[in-house]
Amino acid sequence: MEEKKIDVKEVWDNAYKESMREELGWYESVPEPSLSLIKKYVPSRYKEVLDAGCGESTLLQSLIDNGFKELAGMDLSSEAIKFQKENLKYIQGETEISLKVGDLTEKLNFEKKGTLWHDRAVFHFIFEDSLRKNYKENVKKYLEDDGIFILACFSRENEAERCNGLLVNKQDIEDLEKFFEDSFVMIESLKYSYTMPWGDVRKYIYCIFSKKSYNLS
Ligand SMILES: C[S@@+](CC[C@H](N)C(=O)[O-])C[C@H]1O[C@@H](n2cnc3c(N)ncnc32)[C@H](O)[C@@H]1O
Repeated sequence: MEEKKIDVKEVWDNAYKESMREELGWYESVPEPSLSLIKKYVPSRYKEVLDAGCGESTLLQSLIDNGFKELAGMDLSSEAIKFQKENLKYIQGETEISLKVGDLTEKLNFEKKGTLWHDRAVFHFIFEDSLRKNYKENVKKYLEDDGIFILACFSRENEAERCNGLLVNKQDIEDLEKFFEDSFVMIESLKYSYTMPWGDVRKYIYCIFSKKSYNLS
């Protein structure tokens, strides 16, 4: 089990070592629809937003450019986190950014809670039930009550079975609603066709959930 995890980390580290980010099959010059959705659901720029499995994505920089002041990024790949540390441009003291290497399928502890968890193309690599449950527990632990969870996965309508050589656990909106419904309410969902740098299309679903609050008396 441990060996498998080390291999997966290597697969991602190698992808980031061997290619410019613009050449990666998941690169977005403008991270949409994620950016618009985050702006829609997080009116305050002073609440922490986490890009879970951020890779070398342009999303964190776009959020900085849109005035978000509290940001976090986490990824299994130390190469990706190193890239973000070296390349993000922001004014020290005005914007707080935490960038960490971490495995979202392990039981994590967070220094503080946040208002939004964003995942594009990370959860869909997890097949094992216990690891999917660990991931869900992490989202619950990180988010404050009524926090927002944006999850983008390859749709079952997507022809490709793999991304970066790894098998993808394709989902439909109902699958995700069912898996997360014990702790989250789905408030929006959409289908999105992403065009890769070389023109192929990948069909995604985006599901937006709100964390259920159990503190209502
Ligand atoms: C297809 S890329 C997407 C990256 C980014 N979210 C984006 O949209 O550009 C998948 C990312 O998930 C990361 N990843 C895969 N499994 C992970 C895990 N168990 N925990 C944290 N990150 C993981 C990889 O290192 C990679 O950066």
